[in-house]
Amino acid sequence: MRERRPWAVALAACLALDGAVPLAWRADVLQEQPQLYQPVRSSGGIVASQDGLASAVGAQVLRQGGNAVDAAVATSFALAVTHPQAGNLGGGGFLVLWLPGPSRAGRPGCGAEAAAAEQRLGRGVAVAVNFRESAPRRASSGLFLDARGGVDRELATRSLRSTAVPGTVAGLGLVQRCYGRLSLAQVLAPAIALADQGLVVGPDLAASLALARPLLDRDPTSRSLFLGGTGRPPAAGSRWRQPQLARTLRGIAAAGEAGFYQGPVADQLVRLMRQGSGLIEHRDLSSYRARLVKPLLGQLRGGHAVLTMPPPGGGVTLLQLLHILEPMQLERLGLNGAATIHRMAEAMNLAYRDRNHWLADPDQITVPTATLISQAHAAEQRARLQLDRHRPAAELASQPLLLPDNPNTTHLSVVDRQGGLVATTTTLNFAYGNGISVPGAGFLLNNQMDDFTAKPGSPNAYGLVQGEANAIAPGRRPLSSMTPTLVMRPSGEPWLATGSPGGSRIITTVLQVILNRLVHGLNLATAVATPRIHSQLWPDQVSLEPGISPDTQQLLGSMGHRLVAVPAMGSANSVEWLGDAQGSLGVADPRKGGAAAVAESPP
Ligand code: DON
Repeated sequence: MRERRPWAVALAACLALDGAVPLAWRADVLQEQPQLYQPVRSSGGIVASQDGLASAVGAQVLRQGGNAVDAAVATSFALAVTHPQAGNLGGGGFLVLWLPGPSRAGRPGCGAEAAAAEQRLGRGVAVAVNFRESAPRRASSGLFLDARGGVDRELATRSLRSTAVPGTVAGLGLVQRCYGRLSLAQVLAPAIALADQGLVVGPDLAASLALARPLLDRDPTSRSLFLGGTGRPPAAGSRWRQPQLARTLRGIAAAGEAGFYQGPVADQLVRLMRQGSGLIEHRDLSSYRARLVKPLLGQLRGGHAVLTMPPPGGGVTLLQLLHILEPMQLERLGLNGAATIHRMAEAMNLAYRDRNHWLADPDQITVPTATLISQAHAAEQRARLQLDRHRPAAELASQPLLLPDNPNTTHLSVVDRQGGLVATTTTLNFAYGNGISVPGAGFLLNNQMDDFTAKPGSPNAYGLVQGEANAIAPGRRPLSSMTPTLVMRPSGEPWLATGSPGGSRIITTVLQVILNRLVHGLNLATAVATPRIHSQLWPDQVSLEPGISPDTQQLLGSMGHRLVAVPAMGSANSVEWLGDAQGSLGVADPRKGGAAAVAESPP
């Protein structure tokens, strides 16, 4: 007899009551059902991020009259202070937003580009921001190859050369200028205060810094910033100040992006590069631009619109997966049953195969986006999917392997009082990037160059075996799995914002949050908390979080899947807008120590 969890029983009862119309595809978004976990509720907006202090900063900005963009930017800058393993100034990321009201294209500093990028949807506009790091001009395809033609993993991930031109400050500046309501100085103020006055180190940060001690100890600047004079990270409960970072943030508040890409911070960064193997020069920094781009738009059965990140982000693969899986009646096969997991894993392998071959920076490489996300391609892929047997990766493509690492990225979602939604994912790539900090400027550098294909057929840190299209080239932005995503209701009203860290598992995490919410009918908190699975073609295995039942695993094994138990995957901090009268819901993924902070107490 199969083990039944309490929420599964409740869900089964709801499905039975729902009769012939599948619950997930009623004309509009589901009723809430009694389930294990409950999201927080607010009438004034919610910020869900991976760190409680940073979420509280965002909620405070909403209370001050900021919109979802102001709150997201304030939270991102705060994460650069409170969550140094992934929050950053020295990294990059993506953002997708929907805001009520007219085009913002007339605003100073966001003219023609905004007009071309905005997508009118319902009573508002949607836009995406690409602030992915780019390869320095002096970078070339063989950058990380050693004398024998192999990939020098140390050089690709731990050296100054692993750093791509940071995009975060440009991205946050651009989106705030075009779509925020407050000034940049206003949204930076809380982060500056946290860096200046210090924060009380929580247990999660203390544990993370302790784990990263060997890495941070290798770089003299990181050692003094994060390990103090003692060589030990600040203990839980102690106050930790970051005056250099406060100075850098103040420079950005005063001069905007020029406070980072020009002047003393740029000088310090370039000087550091020249001392080692780094390639970033002044002209790379001064010419870096974040870009407003049209979000990818997918239509799901029932009329829900999915707005997600185009290449080099992960949205193509997400939409491919939704389009393959959507008609397969997963709601009838059951959440995390063997038949459901099998279909998801096989679809993931097909979609990751396309990802690794076709996807890259569309500004330099022709990416067949429209074909890949078409229903015709999804139908063709679905037809290849064998319902009773795993198709080994070797049958689909060639080349294996996985390299373990300690990655980190961070995702936050914001909803404001008017239903404005922001989903943004940023990263240094690994936790604490390459571990190297910019002297005098107080921030860590990314090691995003490893997301390029260092050598075709050779896996990167996430085991992704990528193709020629994603080779290193000057100015190119490396292919990413980051997939900040919004879902709109069939009525055109805003609904859900989600996304996740997790390297190659980001896309499949976002997929499962959407399927759990929309297809399986779980409430937001349960949709996020439910155990997840992942498959990416190579390595030829399905990763399972704890909580997938033994008999399900047995069935999957008999279909030919190699199953691997893994610890928690991703951190899908998510929010949902219910309506003017009903307010909003939010949840921080219980897998990580985040928090969903409300801007106003429920009435
Ligand atoms: O952009 C990417 O796909 C990776 N650099 C993301 C890294 C990541 O999510 C690590 N996190 N947990």
